[in-house]
Amino acid sequence: MELDEYLAELAGKVGEELDKWFPPDTKPEILARASRHLLEAGGKRLRPCLTLLSCEAVGGKVEDAIEAAAALELLHTFTLIHDDIMDRDEFRRNVKTVHTIWGEPIAIIAGDALFTKVFEALAANARRLGLPADRTLDLFETVSKASFEICQGQALDMLFEDKRDVGEAEYLAMVNSKTGALMEASAKVGGILGGGGPEQIRALAEYGRLVGVAFQIRDDILGLTGDRDKFGKPIGSDIREGKRTLMVVRALEVAGPSDQAKLFRALGNERATEAEIAAAIEVIKRTGAIEYAEKKAEEFVASAKSKLKALPNSKAKLLLLELADFAAKREF
Ligand code: IPE
Ligand code: IPE
Ligand code: MG
Ligand code: MG
Repeated sequence: MELDEYLAELAGKVGEELDKWFPPDTKPEILARASRHLLEAGGKRLRPCLTLLSCEAVGGKVEDAIEAAAALELLHTFTLIHDDIMDRDEFRRNVKTVHTIWGEPIAIIAGDALFTKVFEALAANARRLGLPADRTLDLFETVSKASFEICQGQALDMLFEDKRDVGEAEYLAMVNSKTGALMEASAKVGGILGGGGPEQIRALAEYGRLVGVAFQIRDDILGLTGDRDKFGKPIGSDIREGKRTLMVVRALEVAGPSDQAKLFRALGNERATEAEIAAAIEVIKRTGAIEYAEKKAEEFVASAKSKLKALPNSKAKLLLLELADFAAKREF
């Protein structure tokens, strides 16, 4: 089975499960609508996919981890709603962002509401399986720690907007936390629920984190060069917001003074014109920073895939290998 077929099949199963955790008749109605808005807009469902494939890769069944898979998507969606407020972005998944439609207060509450359901869904999964206490604690600890690490990564992401000299190591630490942590947790949770051994669970966790870093690098590339309709998010807004993506970090390192000045004219400048944004992107392209970032993403994918040597061969493992490639090659 191809990865895209698997993702499509899964979208149905996870969609039904998500509906259970956030029914349309939730009161007040505005909370239901705001909370369900992005869930219904779709998305790649990559984190639940990681959970379910990881569960299968250690010998479990998809049904063993379905509530947890939904929990990871609820957690992801919560971070997206709050991220769009922080990043002042108006589009995601090809629809208007929650705060753009209902305002920031409702968007904050909708995000919080999704977050509360994360732990309820995990508990339901553990209860249904009669999961032993040590695995149950591991499950909750994993998701709780990842949630905190996302906060750390997001805080760095925001701090870097006003920092001139962000280095590559700092960038990598930031994306490790803001994106790697959740992908790690998604894979690890699948390993825990599927009954994997400690080494298998560790391998899945490491794989997930590395895939996450590659995934974020690719996301930043698409944020500069992608097709808006395919990507579902605005192009160039990272520049206007002053985001220190790997390409910006690299371009600032290798550019001469006049190119640096062009970059700084647009970077973090809310009033930057389209022409200034385009000039900044042109500098980034000319420095070879995009190819540089593509190569880095490929390196992370290769190390992610090498971690899976610890798992027995299976269809699920092949799909996890394919998913790692997708992270760095995707167009959406
Ligand atoms: C967006 O994640 C946030 C990042 C970590 C870059 P996805 O690209 O997985 O978003 P959806 O779920 O498919 O919309
Ligand atoms: C991705 O945020 C990470 C989280 C949401 C925690 P970004 O701000 O980098 O990604 P997009 O471009 O908004 O999806
Ligand atoms: Mg954002
Ligand atoms: Mg952000």
